[in-house]
Amino acid sequence: MKKGIFTLLAALLLVNISMAQNDATEAQIDALLAKMTLEEKIGQMNQYSGFFDATGPAPAEGYTKERYEHIKTGMVGSMLNVRGAKEVRAMQELAVENSRLGIPMIFGFDVIHGFKTTTPIPLAEAASWDLEAIEQSARVAAIEASAAGLNWTFAPMVDISRDARWGRVMEGAGEDPYLGCMIAKARVNGFQGQDLSANNTIAACAKHFAAYGFAESGKDYNTADIGLSTLYNVVLPPFKAAAEAGVATFMNSFNELNGIPATGNVFLQRDILKGEWAYKGFVVSDWGSITEMIDHSYAENGLHASELAVNAGSDMDMESHLYVKHLKKLVESGKIAEAKIDDAVRRILRAKFQLGLFDDPYKYCDETREETLIYHEDHMASALDIAKKSIVLLKNEGGLLPLPKEGKKIALIGPLAEDKNSPLGNWRLASDDHTAISVVEGMQAYPSNELTVSQGVALIEGETSFPSHVKLNEDDRSGMSKAVKIAKKADVVIMVLGEHGFQSGEGRSRSNLGLPGLQQELLEAVYKVNKNIVLVLMNGRPLALPWADDHIPAIVEAWQLGTQSGHAIAQVLYGDYNPSGKLPMTFPRDVGQVPIYYNYKNTGRPGPKNEVFWSHYTDQPNTPLYPFGYGLSYTSFEYTDLNISDPTADRTVEVNITLKNTGNVEGEEVAQLYIRDRVASVTRPVKELKGFKKVELKAGESKTLTFTLTEKELGFYNNEGKYVVETGDFEVMVGGNSVETLNGEFRLE
Ligand code: GLC
Repeated sequence: MKKGIFTLLAALLLVNISMAQNDATEAQIDALLAKMTLEEKIGQMNQYSGFFDATGPAPAEGYTKERYEHIKTGMVGSMLNVRGAKEVRAMQELAVENSRLGIPMIFGFDVIHGFKTTTPIPLAEAASWDLEAIEQSARVAAIEASAAGLNWTFAPMVDISRDARWGRVMEGAGEDPYLGCMIAKARVNGFQGQDLSANNTIAACAKHFAAYGFAESGKDYNTADIGLSTLYNVVLPPFKAAAEAGVATFMNSFNELNGIPATGNVFLQRDILKGEWAYKGFVVSDWGSITEMIDHSYAENGLHASELAVNAGSDMDMESHLYVKHLKKLVESGKIAEAKIDDAVRRILRAKFQLGLFDDPYKYCDETREETLIYHEDHMASALDIAKKSIVLLKNEGGLLPLPKEGKKIALIGPLAEDKNSPLGNWRLASDDHTAISVVEGMQAYPSNELTVSQGVALIEGETSFPSHVKLNEDDRSGMSKAVKIAKKADVVIMVLGEHGFQSGEGRSRSNLGLPGLQQELLEAVYKVNKNIVLVLMNGRPLALPWADDHIPAIVEAWQLGTQSGHAIAQVLYGDYNPSGKLPMTFPRDVGQVPIYYNYKNTGRPGPKNEVFWSHYTDQPNTPLYPFGYGLSYTSFEYTDLNISDPTADRTVEVNITLKNTGNVEGEEVAQLYIRDRVASVTRPVKELKGFKKVELKAGESKTLTFTLTEKELGFYNNEGKYVVETGDFEVMVGGNSVETLNGEFRLE
């Protein structure tokens, strides 16, 4: 009893302390705002790129003298793409030592999957379903980025997407809003830690708000036109989860949503984010997205675009250079109320106070920290851990895997087998070229097998690994005969195929989901001489590989796993780590099925039926090649004794299941719980993920798992945006993927 009271008092004390701190910060903001001229306020809303890494269409004039002047006169509130303790200090000094009020700048960077030590692309990390490991991965990224002077990352990207043609699926958590919410929280907590003012935490940024992942036909930057039910129940939940986790900033998106560009979208940014959700952080535009409202045919010119953006709640202008040009006259002409400028500046200053930048603008600029922390061995260990956990075993016929550790002739074939760049993924901005452990290097760490290597088809790299200098060979077959020759002599062939690091990511949508270039031809040529093939896929999106699924005995999805890629893959292939990943996104049989996803609606003509009048294709099954939540192990698991309690008075339902490791090696399983609301005032999907547990079991070990369903899991948003929980029958499905499940039901009154 006493302990409970003490805990309560301690909690109350903590709440009071943080409220007092908040009040003190608000008072400091008030005091500073009162001193600022209109120009100085507008300066806080202006963000320039440092052009260390151009991540958008760089302006023609480049990094001009005018920009330096703006920094020295307090007309720049933030910079992006400046990195390094020394470089950031130099820019910070320009602002703090020269401008009238000495307001520090906030330095942002795309720390998407690691900083120098690169971790798996976010879609790969999502396949681990290991929230602690995902949080730790973001933690490591924050430690390295903050050691390099940075205090803000443009991550986590929380865009749900069901379309593998879209290049940026690599950057998110896949197709499911529930998994997306959990991962959004884990990443925000990893980046921001418990104390934003610490010098090893950085402000996070939920992006891209909103519906960017629903770009029509998977074409990047394309129109997003979706219904309110999809917006409220699929797109917005991960953003809300990030906001509830305390994410310091949001970034809006390039796309229009239902006819209104997100950057000028009052409904999204004012009504929902800053209104209903009462969000107190600030919104940065995406690169040039304010100007782009002219191309969207939503703004007449830069002046009009600036007015629309501020009135819609876009607080900071990334690289449109429009706020510094137009806001003063817009306020003076009454088109924009100065109160809106004050609100935007208050939000920006709040983040700077929370980061401790007013106490010490140079707290992130310690070169000694940078030297000791970048590429630290602990970070390498953490990167290896999450990389192993992200690998998904898709097929293992005849137990070809794990490989024997000695006495075998192993041929390593494919353009990505020796590649030390592609595993770094698309958003490797700060990392160093050729620093990933390749598959060949990972396999060489096991010395008792005889390895031979051949690219088969070349991965062409130009003078640098810059995106435009990398390509997979599309017409030179000269290397194939050597590959076939070494395959013929091998006991096992490991083929490392997929996409190079810049075939997914921003601006990299594809209309085809097959193996790019001559890789399919190479795979079939090798198969003709040796069927003992392990196909290791390195890719940034789901691929459609029906031939491989039909013919190849073992298939491993190894994504782009970052710096420790080769070691993670080798440890899985040799069984030193039993693969535990599960797909966070459906793999189609054919690109023609896309968008394809597990939580689809039943329609009025579900199937299959032995007639034509039902929802299907005449040339493809409706089912995917590999479903959401799917992944194999070197052991096997059995689900039994599904037990569902009656709902309690507060509409809580307890679901129990027994999970047994029925194989002869230890392994981890991601037990997944899905529900279906059978009848509702807005149609509900045939299944929705509402719980999961990653469990480690020894051979033969059983465990009873308990899931709890509450109104938080049983409801949905109706088309008015209201969260409702309706009475009626619910199905419960529990299993190791979204298709093979034990099913039960309950009725909610
Ligand atoms: C890019 C991306 C965004 C990124 C920003 C800064 O265009 O859309 O995700 O954070 O510009 O690099």
